[in-house]
Amino acid sequence: MRATVTRLAGVALAVGSLTGLMAGPAVAATGATGAGDPYFPLQGNGGYDVASYDLSLRYDTVGRGLEGTATIRATATEAVKTFDLDLRRALTVSSVTVNGTTASFAQPANLGQELVVTPGATLTKGMAFTVVVRYAGRPEAVTDPDGSIEGWVETSDGAFVVGEPQGSPAWFPCNDSPRDKATYDFRVTVPSGVTAIANGELVSTTPAAGWTTFTWHNGEPMATYLATVTTGVFGVTTGTTPGGIPYYIATDPKVDTASQSVLRKVPAMTDYFVGLFGPYPFSSTGAVVDNAPEVGYALETQTKPLYDSPPDELTVSHELAHMWFGDSVTLSRWQDMWINEGFAEFGGWMWSEHTGQKSAQSYFNQYYAKNADSWVWKPPPADPGGPATMFAGSLYERGAMTLQALRVKLGDGTFFPMLRAWHAAKKYGNATVEDFTGFASTYTGRDLSAFFQAWLYADAKPTSW
Ligand code: TRP
Ligand code: ZN
Repeated sequence: MRATVTRLAGVALAVGSLTGLMAGPAVAATGATGAGDPYFPLQGNGGYDVASYDLSLRYDTVGRGLEGTATIRATATEAVKTFDLDLRRALTVSSVTVNGTTASFAQPANLGQELVVTPGATLTKGMAFTVVVRYAGRPEAVTDPDGSIEGWVETSDGAFVVGEPQGSPAWFPCNDSPRDKATYDFRVTVPSGVTAIANGELVSTTPAAGWTTFTWHNGEPMATYLATVTTGVFGVTTGTTPGGIPYYIATDPKVDTASQSVLRKVPAMTDYFVGLFGPYPFSSTGAVVDNAPEVGYALETQTKPLYDSPPDELTVSHELAHMWFGDSVTLSRWQDMWINEGFAEFGGWMWSEHTGQKSAQSYFNQYYAKNADSWVWKPPPADPGGPATMFAGSLYERGAMTLQALRVKLGDGTFFPMLRAWHAAKKYGNATVEDFTGFASTYTGRDLSAFFQAWLYADAKPTSW
């Protein structure tokens, strides 16, 4: 499933393989090695659009080996004789078939994360096809330009698996673009006593000869970076929120006591955001608290955010707000990070206000009091500057202040219905910063250009808006 962003075509020319873009309509092309994101040029691929991933994985949490079979259903978006998937080279591919027929493949050392597939026959434009990739190896953590780690992070009893912004090819072959959303089925086999947790809902748990297979189904569209198969020893609590949404909450016993008081609020938080942002976009909610403090952050893994250590209430509400903003409405390019983080952080402030703790305006005032040279203002939310600064604090705090300032300017009676309309309009899709500013102007019928210039674009503390 792919949301097309026409403006990206020019970017792709600058950074991607040119062959796919230059081929005439009748000539079978090589699908581009990247999806055109300037921050991560090799991320994602051209030539096709994925509809679903079916991942059968066996993870030996003691020996650390992963064996996988990925079945990927996709549609060719152009005539292609060769296309790429993203898969890190710590994993070795043993076979690839396309539509049941053996395909040739390569994992070229000079192309880092590219698995190059050449089917026996050219794929024609619009043709549905199924790729089956068998692979194995010891998955690795990926280090990002900002120094943070992600991908497959081994823990004492399993692995903490997070993919933002480029960790998913550490464990499955994919079209690792945030614009190519797909549905997922996971079958994860782990030693008995270990729990395997993936996105969506648990379908079955099947023990066999010292191993257990956990089958999970994620039926709503999901970006690759939001997928997880976290494993380890976990205690699990399930139920349904008062509003009727099933939840699954898992904690590593080592951090269980420190997590429970906040996790008890997950059902109420989810229901609160339904009232604030509109119908819940997924079939379940939840949380997974693991013991992986070296990671240093939480991630809004779809349907059940993942915490590396016991989270505070602001973090849990932030991650749950991401289900609407980040997971359902996803950034188009990594430079559009404000579309994810500004909204999630504002959601956390709203939960705080709703529960009689600090109000969103108090958060605004606290940050607004900072000097013009503070970290809170730089980089401006609409231009994070590059992959090394894409998670800068300003994306979060100045980003949320932007929404609080807009709330004050428009009034709650316009602002919150507008947020609900924004989610409804972009549900399961992608958005750029400009998509939101354009939407707000159209929705309100007001010229908000000076406001957004001051809050999102100016390389300075906003002083008038
Ligand atoms: N998106 C996460 C959140 O704020 C944070 C995150 C994910 C992150 N990956 C990261 C932060 C890498 C720093 C580095 O909910
Ligand atoms: Zn966030």
